[in-house]
Amino acid sequence: MSEAPSGITIRPLTQQDRTWVAQFLDEHWKSTKIVSRGQSYYGHLLPGFVASIPDDETGAEEPIGLLLYRQEDSECEVMTLDSIQRKSGVGTALLEAMKQYALENGIRRLWLITTNDNLDALRFYQKRGWHLVTIHRDALNESRRLKPQIPIIGLDGIPLRDEIELELTL
Ligand SMILES: CC(C)(COP(=O)(O)OP(=O)(O)OC[C@H]1O[C@@H](n2cnc3c(N)ncnc32)[C@H](O)[C@@H]1OP(=O)(O)O)[C@@H](O)C(=O)NCCC(=O)NCCS
Repeated sequence: MSEAPSGITIRPLTQQDRTWVAQFLDEHWKSTKIVSRGQSYYGHLLPGFVASIPDDETGAEEPIGLLLYRQEDSECEVMTLDSIQRKSGVGTALLEAMKQYALENGIRRLWLITTNDNLDALRFYQKRGWHLVTIHRDALNESRRLKPQIPIIGLDGIPLRDEIELELTL
């Protein structure tokens, strides 16, 4: 467990978190299914980190951010990063926890897919040292076959078409 700025606690997910993680994914991504590079994954079964603050009344842990990843050999793919208390350091703290895990476990490369409409994410990752690697043009056509909930029009009215791969080498 680590303490991030402004009373935000970051800890690794456990099996006990799976139920709320499934609900969280349904709410934020319309499914527990996560599609990346033509593959589908059950997000609530993946490892990850939760950011939380204490509930005002009960003091119980209140999740305000979630990062899920999958590990393959010496690489980790960040599968989702969500903050529900934006611009207060949650996303950065979760990404930092991922990086710390990677450094401690011999992971040489972190990578992720975002979509062409997600200008916020492109800014966010690049400012934190990540590089754009590849544009997988029209990859969302394939993703929609696996997850029909993916909309045709994305953020800011931008047609949702391409997967953009970013990486951080360690
Ligand atoms: C991308 C995302 C995870 C960032 O999460 P976040 O919690 O807002 O991230 P942070 O608060 O750490 O940083 C966001 C910005 O707020 C700023 N910020 C952080 N604390 C702040 C504070 N106390 N006051 C003012 N600004 C602050 C940061 O400097 C940062 O700006 P920058 O990117 O221009 O440097 C979030 O926007 C999100 O959940 N998006 C939707 C899901 C998504 O698209 N995920 C990525 C898909 S791969």
